[in-house]
Amino acid sequence: MRSVIITGGAGFIGSHVVRLFVNKYPDYNIINLDKLTYAGNLDNLRDIEGKPNYKFVKMDICDFEGVLALMKAEKVDGIIHLAAESHVDRSIKDPFTFAQTNVMGTLSLLQAAKTYWESLPEGFDGKRFYHISTDEVYGALEMTNPEGIEPPFTTKASSGSHHLAYGSKFFTEDLKYQPHSPYSASKASSDHFVRAFHDTYGMPTIVTNCSNNYGPYQFPEKLIPLFINNIRHRKPLPVYGKGENVRDWLFVEDHARAIDLIFHKGTIAETYNIGGFNEWKNIDIIKVLINTVDRLLGRAQGEDMDLITYVTDRAGHDLRYAIDSTKLQRELGWEPSLQFEEGIERTVRWYLDHQAWVDNVTSGEYQKYYDSMYKNR
Ligand code: NAD
Ligand code: TYD
Repeated sequence: MRSVIITGGAGFIGSHVVRLFVNKYPDYNIINLDKLTYAGNLDNLRDIEGKPNYKFVKMDICDFEGVLALMKAEKVDGIIHLAAESHVDRSIKDPFTFAQTNVMGTLSLLQAAKTYWESLPEGFDGKRFYHISTDEVYGALEMTNPEGIEPPFTTKASSGSHHLAYGSKFFTEDLKYQPHSPYSASKASSDHFVRAFHDTYGMPTIVTNCSNNYGPYQFPEKLIPLFINNIRHRKPLPVYGKGENVRDWLFVEDHARAIDLIFHKGTIAETYNIGGFNEWKNIDIIKVLINTVDRLLGRAQGEDMDLITYVTDRAGHDLRYAIDSTKLQRELGWEPSLQFEEGIERTVRWYLDHQAWVDNVTSGEYQKYYDSMYKNR
């Protein structure tokens, strides 16, 4: 029997990881540790909350004593760490919160795990501290092929789909970190702490860096869910700069599958990049979203294109992200399972079918925040 803490399990990716583990491993003790910030919602987990192998604990990862006591009480032997502040725009406004949660919170978890595991007769044997990070730590890639070229890699999901690459360079695991935003700087710092705990104390750690995720339960301040909701309600779509920035999109359930595989089969002290070889310019994705929402709502195709509103660019806006996940494919056999068009269709349908969820998570404080973010753009 394993006892595993998943931090940030009430958030977007965390809720998919919790659901996967609770359903797939009935003999594990799964503890969802989450502070329930604006981004954490227990509504994301209603379908599994009654399962006997699942427990929710409301706690701040910065609470070292609380985390240590929980690890002892639950005899925790695995940690999958997703709790974080995750939105770049917020990090530009309030970098302190990002340093606090992402850096100090990760350090607090690491130190609690070290303290507890070192107190056991077997020490670190059979233990695992798995830290979930982002490709944004690598900084921005150049866009050497603005029209797009065939990428050197093909995966089941990318073949036959839109899978142009906008440059010849990709993020590989050995690249130097060059974060630009306070968000990515805080994640980079936390990654360094995790590796330092392996190198200094022998802690069994793993780090993965994933590209942009999309899918159900993503907080509607991020591009895809925000724009789906705005198109539905015919609100302006604030496109930063010229909409030419490129992101590499992965369906969230494929990320959760990768996390499961790496948690169980990944090599200690290794880093794995996770991505779908699925680069898109923002403006192209936005057009797909408009066409999909219009079609599913029975509106005329492209009727809502005039919602596109070019606004002041994000400060320090990274031009292009593109992950090379060859190592993960080669060593552990992981591949994305969904073609992007299918993933987007599922995602748009989910948001259109779950308006109550969207209204609930965006009510109150969030609406004030959104209005203040966009009124000056
Ligand atoms: P999210 O913002 O949707 O969820 C974060 C969760 O962490 C929330 O449930 C929140 O309540 C919780 N949390 C925040 N501060 C906390 C604290 N101090 N103590 C305990 N819980 C706290 O984030 P997400 O998009 O699901 O991202 C999860 C992780 O994956 C993050 O570490 C992020 O950096 C990483 N990541 C995200 C993406 C992406 O595209 N979303 C891509 C790669 C990596
Ligand atoms: P986002 O979902 O915030 O993810 P990240 O910045 O972590 O990649 O943004 C994805 C892309 O969409 C990014 O290039 C910024 C852009 N964007 C907009 O143009 N308008 C918006 O309102 C948002 C939220 C993002």
